[in-house]
Amino acid sequence: MLVQEYFKSRKQLLERSLKEFMPSPDDYPKNLNAAMNYSVFSDGKRLRPILFFATYEMLNGRKNISRLDRLLPAAAAIEMVHTASLIHDDLPSVDNSNERRGKPSCHKKYGEAVAILAGDALITKAIETLAKLKNKKEAVTAIEILTRAISTRGMIGGQAVDIISSRKKVNKNTLRYIHLKKTGSLLQACTELACVLFKAEDNLRITLGNFALNLGLAYQIVDDILDEVGSFDVLGKEAGGDAKQNKATYPSIFGLETSKSKAERLLRDCFNAIKNMPNNDILLEYINMIQERLP
Ligand code: IPE
Ligand code: IPE
Ligand code: MG
Ligand code: MG
Ligand code: MG
Repeated sequence: MLVQEYFKSRKQLLERSLKEFMPSPDDYPKNLNAAMNYSVFSDGKRLRPILFFATYEMLNGRKNISRLDRLLPAAAAIEMVHTASLIHDDLPSVDNSNERRGKPSCHKKYGEAVAILAGDALITKAIETLAKLKNKKEAVTAIEILTRAISTRGMIGGQAVDIISSRKKVNKNTLRYIHLKKTGSLLQACTELACVLFKAEDNLRITLGNFALNLGLAYQIVDDILDEVGSFDVLGKEAGGDAKQNKATYPSIFGLETSKSKAERLLRDCFNAIKNMPNNDILLEYINMIQERLP
């Protein structure tokens, strides 16, 4: 199967699962449900659920796509928390971004108060959705993994340090912490969830978790670079937001060329971490796809 076909079909599967588990935009209270749907059903790349599917299918082998049906609550939950993080990330008191996924950001369209609640509601909806996994022992473990990944010691912690670090001179360790936590933690949860649902041994879960944590760090460095030199098409918003907000980014501290080398090196490490695993073709292409985002 061509990798493009793989990405397309798994993206469609994810969209179907979101349709199944999201509330209707017409449900009461309508402003809240409409805002949640507006952000979730916008043009996201769906990279995190695709990473989750691709990891599971590396472990389990690529069989009939219907075999992925039991994973759908987890795939939808991942995209819900990711979308929640974007809604909150764009708020005036955080990154103050007016655009997201090629459209006005949630607070621009629905107002700040509704956007805050829409993010909150997507996070709780994600947990409710994970609880729908048929095997209840797996459901509890999945909830533990995803909630830890977005906790004070994960994504939200990273975002907190990101906020207090703008307009400050931060050291390299703090910068690395911000990026590993705000972006790496959720990617790590994607591969760990795949391992749990496959019932993989702990050592594999740790290896693939570390692989995704580094992949997330690389992804965020690439995103920082694109924020300096990328186009609206690639970013879904105007570039230059980080500089305007005086954000602590890799290019602001290391310069563009060194940042690029660091991202390339991390992606090589990711490649090496899985190069001897069977059925790794899609995940290797996934790494390649991040590499190709580099200008
Ligand atoms: C944006 O994530 C936030 C970052 C961690 C850089 P994506 O680049 O995956 O955004 P969408 O989901 O495709 O909109
Ligand atoms: C976002 O990082 C990370 C999270 C939302 C957790 P950025 O602030 O760099 O993401 P973009 O550039 O707005 O997509
Ligand atoms: Mg941000
Ligand atoms: Mg931002
Ligand atoms: Mg960015």
